[in-house]
Amino acid sequence: MENIPVWALNATLGSFKQLDRKISVEVAVIGGGITGITTAQLLKKRGIKTAVIESRKIGQGTTGQSTGNLYAPTEYDFSKMLSKYSSEQVQQIILSRLQAIEMIQKNIEQFAIPCDFHLRPMYYFNAYNDKNLQHEKRHAHELGLQTTSLPKDFPLYFEDGYGIENQAQFNPLIYTQRLAHEIFDADCEIFEDTCINEIEKDDEFYYLKTDMTRIKAKYVVHATHTPKGLLVPYHTALAPYREYGIAVTLKNDLYPEGIFWAYYGEEKFSIRSYKNELGSFLICIGSMHKVGQADDNRENISRLIDFVNKHFEVESVNYMWGGQNYKAADMLPYIGKKSAESREFIATGFSTDGLVYGTLAAQIISDAIAQIENPYAELYKANRSQPLKAAKNIVKENLNVLGKLAGDFFKNGEPKEVESISPNEGKLIQTEEGKFAVSKDDKGEVKVLSPICPHMGCTVHWNFAEKSWDCPCHGSRFDTNGKVIEGPSFKNLEQIKLKKPKE
Ligand code: FES
Repeated sequence: MENIPVWALNATLGSFKQLDRKISVEVAVIGGGITGITTAQLLKKRGIKTAVIESRKIGQGTTGQSTGNLYAPTEYDFSKMLSKYSSEQVQQIILSRLQAIEMIQKNIEQFAIPCDFHLRPMYYFNAYNDKNLQHEKRHAHELGLQTTSLPKDFPLYFEDGYGIENQAQFNPLIYTQRLAHEIFDADCEIFEDTCINEIEKDDEFYYLKTDMTRIKAKYVVHATHTPKGLLVPYHTALAPYREYGIAVTLKNDLYPEGIFWAYYGEEKFSIRSYKNELGSFLICIGSMHKVGQADDNRENISRLIDFVNKHFEVESVNYMWGGQNYKAADMLPYIGKKSAESREFIATGFSTDGLVYGTLAAQIISDAIAQIENPYAELYKANRSQPLKAAKNIVKENLNVLGKLAGDFFKNGEPKEVESISPNEGKLIQTEEGKFAVSKDDKGEVKVLSPICPHMGCTVHWNFAEKSWDCPCHGSRFDTNGKVIEGPSFKNLEQIKLKKPKE
């Protein structure tokens, strides 16, 4: 089983240069996923000079780790949404999402993007629990969605269920990469492998600093799934979750067509098929947990494998990957200016519905920058809730382990705990000099990092399945060299140099 999203199998990563010179633009978009690239596309249409800055490769972050499903409903049951919002508001949410799906479809047609886009029904079914889905079906119908019963030849065991017609599927990574190629020019530049380390501002401009240079911009769009830096109200209001995907091949050719959401005890699994020139795959996504809070997340992946084995004739489990999502307490994303007087825009809290919400965020934010009224801006506005006071305690609690320099693991011989770490694994180790995040590479070489997340000082945890250090507070993740993979942290985990043992 390879650790790679199935979308990457026939995609080409790495087409754009690293930024190595000073530039000045009207809008700097941080993040080259579906949100960032679509924002740039819409700004370009309005003649607004834009640059997209991606720390990895275009679409390689959350966009390329998603389900590739496009649907008008959200992750949350209709009854839950209706307990918080009026039916008019929930209808608005559905309409705004349908409009975003329509835009994706138009882009695919206009640019002839070969991303396996298909209209498909979306099925909700209850596999071994007592969830009342007929109630949900009624809500869906009343909200204007075209509902159906499950077909007689429904491929999975169910006790109850229903469908919604005309939802869609595609390869999100190829879509985003090809869209990036279509919009790229001197007034819409795109940079990969370019990490923003800091944002400064004066009365007129923002200055986004990288290791090599800086970008001057009038507006900044945080299209990074969660805003970068210390935007405390948002980071504390959002809960970061991680879930996993597997792609398997079947012994038969019974790959089901559609989007399937299975309620399975306490869990929900999303299932779909994907066919490309390399073959056919069944994809199953789910097994969610809070970032940095699973003891050993290889068990989460085992649960996905158990589920598909129970329902399908599995030939082999070929690929696995993880993806992150951020949930807002009120179930709606935060999209728009971070505060009334700011020129910084955020788009976050998409839950697991980010491909559609990302496109919608691009519409709302580009309209705001172009000073065009957007009918959905008010519903999702980013500054709708009061800043939270949290965070302080988290920082205090963790800062007491900072400042322990140059861990001397070899002072009295290498501690047993380090010996107990297998290659490709990591562990937090407490010594007299403090706590350290210690891992070994595949050759057994030891890497030692500070375990203190530079964002706001929480302690990172080892991610067994993906070999990374993950922060449970706001979801920053770091590789075994300490480099930021994703999340709000601008800075890397500090590397600790080991002292040589005295002869
Ligand atoms: Fe905020 Fe780690 S303290 S992500």
